[in-house]
Amino acid sequence: MTKIKHALPNLKEARNRKKEETIRLSYELNKDYLHLGDNKTYHIFTYGCQGNEADSEVISGILENMGYKESNEPFTSDLIILNTCAIRENAENRIWGVLGQLKGVKRNNPDVIIGICGCMPQEENATNRFMEKYPHIDIIFGTHNIQNLPKLIAERVTTNNKVIEVISQQGNILEDAPKHRASKHKAWVNIMYGCDEFCTYCIVPYTRGKERSRDKDDIINEVKSLVEKGYKEITLLGQNVNAYGKDRSDNYTFGDLLFDLDKTGIERIRYTTSHPRDFDDKTIAAHRDCKSVMPHLHLPVQSGDNDVLKRMNRKYTHEQYIESIRKLKEACPDIAITTDIIVAFPGETEEQFQRTLDLVKEVQYDGAYTFIYSPREGTPAAKFEDQIEPEVAKDRLNRLINLVNEYYKKGNERFIGTVQEVLVDSFSKNGEGMMCGYTPHMKLTHFNANDASLIGKTVKVRIDEAKSWFVIGSLCE
Ligand code: 5AD
Ligand code: SF4
Repeated sequence: MTKIKHALPNLKEARNRKKEETIRLSYELNKDYLHLGDNKTYHIFTYGCQGNEADSEVISGILENMGYKESNEPFTSDLIILNTCAIRENAENRIWGVLGQLKGVKRNNPDVIIGICGCMPQEENATNRFMEKYPHIDIIFGTHNIQNLPKLIAERVTTNNKVIEVISQQGNILEDAPKHRASKHKAWVNIMYGCDEFCTYCIVPYTRGKERSRDKDDIINEVKSLVEKGYKEITLLGQNVNAYGKDRSDNYTFGDLLFDLDKTGIERIRYTTSHPRDFDDKTIAAHRDCKSVMPHLHLPVQSGDNDVLKRMNRKYTHEQYIESIRKLKEACPDIAITTDIIVAFPGETEEQFQRTLDLVKEVQYDGAYTFIYSPREGTPAAKFEDQIEPEVAKDRLNRLINLVNEYYKKGNERFIGTVQEVLVDSFSKNGEGMMCGYTPHMKLTHFNANDASLIGKTVKVRIDEAKSWFVIGSLCE
């Protein structure tokens, strides 16, 4: 099969920050592609962060616009798309596994179209491997050209060639793209794209382009229209939401945005993810003063040791991080705090790892995502010489998880006996006659109820029991 290569990824190009102006793109579907998907089905596999989930909703919206219908049976769909994650090797390994499975699907049904997108295609090595070893992939595209998907599908269908278009650019902002949202009561709202932090371990600034903020009015209008449609909760998305507005000239900050969104009438506002260096007093004030800003903060610390933080290029110290938490707890004493931690960063000594354990004890997190450092080709840390032995890394991860779990449970236990407002998501897999949802503090709550009409509503639940990962309660009449 011939390959149509419109563009290939280039990590060197992706690293550039040329201060080019951000272009606000509008979405319009070419009439020629309007019925390309009529009587056809699609399925999207989404991996990785909420940013990818939000992108999948746009891809889904575009496909529905073309006439495609979503299918819950992935392997019999006419179009299968893998929206991939490149953050760690194990995330990528899962995807290589599914790609292997899809070889058989293509063999049985040569007409199926298989597309791959997201962060992995933005890596040169991954795209080379897709092209050389996975001939059953029909379309490869990246994070910067989702709006071109109809054109790429049309090209694949009309020419029967493989189509590859991965653009390594600083990135623009796509407004007005149709979104096929997965939930009717909770919505992702992108407030910015890309990342300029360049933490030495992280691939995201290379795969997602420069930090660029959406216009505040576009965001506020999107939230107002969600409120009108009956949405209860929004999660504001960005790699570093606290840097919102820094690329713009109006001095309007993330804290300002929280105060303005609070006035839209949305019941719950959450956001992810935060960077400790940019986490500021106005945001703390929003947690204190805005009823809709939920009492939960996810503030990735990565390490508790100042030398490690320096080599990670995190630009804050253990002490500064603790000071932010102190100020936040002073303003909102019962706030739930969660974090991300990496163990076995190159050169991390046992003593330095102990500083991370010390920090966990100081903050007493309500939960933490814990990771073993994974070298990402093209990032500075992948070239650091003092990589840690896997056995040492695993041992540190286990010790960290044990400590984190202790506080995770304590963080749940503090709600026993209280009545919490739970936004109901679904029936629970935890047992017959149970439903589940989240409290304002982001505690997953299972409670006794069996009524589909409660989904999307906020109900009062008395918390009776705390497990490590969730709480159990009873519905208040
Ligand atoms: N190795 C391990 N963990 C990583 N993260 C990001 N890059 C890496 C890497 N190379 C973690 C960080 C980040 C979270 C989303 O993933 O903790 O906050
Ligand atoms: Fe999301 Fe990061 Fe994974 Fe990309 S690499 S999909 S931005 S978690």
